[in-house]
Amino acid sequence: MCVLSILIVLLLGRVEASVGRSPRHRHTHHEFSLRAPHGGGSPAPAPGCCSPRSLPKRPHSVSITDFGAVGDGRIVNTLAFQNAIFYLKSFADKGGAQLYVPRGRWLTGSFNLTSHLTLFLEEGAVILGSQDLLEWPVIPALPSYGRGRELPGGRHISLIHGKNMVDVVITGANGTIDGQGSVWWDWFHNKTLDFTRGHLVELIDSRHITISNVTFKNSPFWTIHPVYCSDVLIQDVTILAPPYAPNIDGIDPDSSSNVCIRDCYISTGDDLISIKSGWDEHGINYGMPSTNVCIHNVSGQSPTSAGIAFGSEMSGGISDVFIKSVRVANSRSGIRIKTGAGRGGYITNISISDLQLENVSVAFDFTALYGGHPDDGYDPRALPVIRGISIRDVVGHEIGWAGCMAGLEEAPFRDLCFANVSLSVGAGAWNCSNTYGFSERVVPSPCLELDRKQQQDGGFCFGEASSCFEAIRQYDSS
Ligand SMILES: *[C@@H]1O[C@H](CO)[C@@H](O)[C@H](O)[C@H]1NC(C)=O
Ligand SMILES: *[C@@H]1O[C@H](CO)[C@@H](O)[C@H](O)[C@H]1NC(C)=O
Ligand SMILES: *[C@@H]1O[C@H](CO)[C@@H](O)[C@H](O)[C@H]1NC(C)=O
Ligand SMILES: *[C@@H]1O[C@H](CO)[C@@H](O)[C@H](O)[C@H]1NC(C)=O
Ligand SMILES: *[C@@H]1O[C@H](CO)[C@@H](O)[C@H](O)[C@H]1NC(C)=O
Ligand SMILES: *[C@@H]1O[C@H](CO)[C@@H](O)[C@H](O)[C@H]1NC(C)=O
Ligand SMILES: *[C@@H]1O[C@H](CO)[C@@H](O)[C@H](O)[C@H]1NC(C)=O
Ligand SMILES: *[C@@H]1O[C@H](CO)[C@@H](O)[C@H](O)[C@H]1NC(C)=O
Ligand SMILES: *[C@@H]1O[C@H](CO)[C@@H](O)[C@H](O)[C@H]1NC(C)=O
Repeated sequence: MCVLSILIVLLLGRVEASVGRSPRHRHTHHEFSLRAPHGGGSPAPAPGCCSPRSLPKRPHSVSITDFGAVGDGRIVNTLAFQNAIFYLKSFADKGGAQLYVPRGRWLTGSFNLTSHLTLFLEEGAVILGSQDLLEWPVIPALPSYGRGRELPGGRHISLIHGKNMVDVVITGANGTIDGQGSVWWDWFHNKTLDFTRGHLVELIDSRHITISNVTFKNSPFWTIHPVYCSDVLIQDVTILAPPYAPNIDGIDPDSSSNVCIRDCYISTGDDLISIKSGWDEHGINYGMPSTNVCIHNVSGQSPTSAGIAFGSEMSGGISDVFIKSVRVANSRSGIRIKTGAGRGGYITNISISDLQLENVSVAFDFTALYGGHPDDGYDPRALPVIRGISIRDVVGHEIGWAGCMAGLEEAPFRDLCFANVSLSVGAGAWNCSNTYGFSERVVPSPCLELDRKQQQDGGFCFGEASSCFEAIRQYDSS
């Protein structure tokens, strides 16, 4: 490692290469043509959606210690991280580079990643988030939210951040990124914050991202937040936060496409995974859906919330989500849909199979009566369209309610399809309103609204011949 070259690059000045992008560029026109159960051949696997991936080899590597970092858990290393990344930018067109974080406790404020970078955390390496608010500066609100999620105006930046990037890897030998969020949870509870809390990792407008073999702990707010991203793989990741930690979602794919989340364990104080796409009129105007999301072999628990959630921010639309082999224990709900009048958008083409639930209050909790608006500018006539959700091969023990389904009278849930579902319930079976669908071999017997038999040619309960399932199969056999 040549320290002189580092100095030269640092002296050259910090010129950000900004890739200009206009925000209001994608207005998705949506047609509801759901696949018939036996129609057509399976399409080609979607690129990036759980397709096999080997990590890029980086020809250059530096250690954070080359930049003067001290891993004693007390000295603040923000500048070391920022300088290291700045230096490694110069390798972007030379095959990229790796920033190596050795064993130790590396306290730092927020820093940005860059394209063609691998951040590698050695076994026993812990990146610790600073508990100094000033180390998490305020950045503008996301255009699809119009404001911070919790408070008006901007929001605190994430600990690890990046925008307009391509080919970025966060990996290691199960090192840890610990947000030390407890102080933020206190600030949130005692209402001392002026801006929305920061995420642990947020990647904006980026593509070709891999996050693997790392443990994430104690995020101040949502843990991993890819927004306006595509081609994202999150694999072999552990996410931990105490159950009482407020709104600590695990992973929130937001207005992002070709996202694969697999082989992860998540135990948090909010949804394990929550798929989103912007908030009311801001999300509708931005018009960027979350689509082609695969979730495979994920397990975890959330005593306050859901295994897999959709929304409540879903105004840009959510479609083509494939969930397979998910185990949810000790949680409030298994699968949850949260939306409401004003959201607009849609949730459609959702396929869920091989779901195991254990000690869950409500197995399927779908509501269109969820409130929470960014401001008074929302249009109460913007009704969400929820249709085409197929769920099969579900086993649940110690379940409170099987299903609570509350659609809107003006916009009922349609084409919900349940097949081969067996739940042992304690509190009650199904409670449905403004809901229509089909069912086959469902115990306890579903509400009348879901009691129609699946028609052979009905075209509503689509099969597994989706690009994502095909990609998963290829992945597992490769
Ligand atoms: C649903 O998925 C099928 C194939 O997976 C696709 O052809 C269709 O366009 C999708 N429909 C919507 C509304 O996304
Ligand atoms: C990181 O990127 C954000 C833009 O996404 C910018 O506001 C911030 O100043 C950058 N931080 C550093 C340390 O460069
Ligand atoms: C990684 O570390 C976490 C937290 O210590 C642990 O729960 C998990 O089992 C580890 N994963 C592997 C693959 O060793
Ligand atoms: C809020 O919580 C923080 C962090 O624990 C603490 O330092 C502060 O004194 C609390 N403020 C109030 C008003 O309780
Ligand atoms: C995770 O680590 C294991 C063991 O070190 C390794 O075999 C695997 O390739 C890694 N996976 C990814 C996606 O980085
Ligand atoms: C499922 O994920 C867990 C990690 O949560 C991993 O240990 C296990 O090997 C994975 N199973 C398969 C079949 O890939
Ligand atoms: C069931 O889950 C709840 C949290 O939702 C937990 O408090 C309780 O201890 C769990 N019961 C068992 C038997 O594990
Ligand atoms: C029904 O679901 C169970 C549990 O997932 C599965 O083992 C079984 O194979 C399924 N039956 C059929 C006919 O698909
Ligand atoms: C059924 O759900 C409705 C809301 O959709 C609620 O008002 C009602 O109390 C529920 N019934 C039971 C028995 O929980």
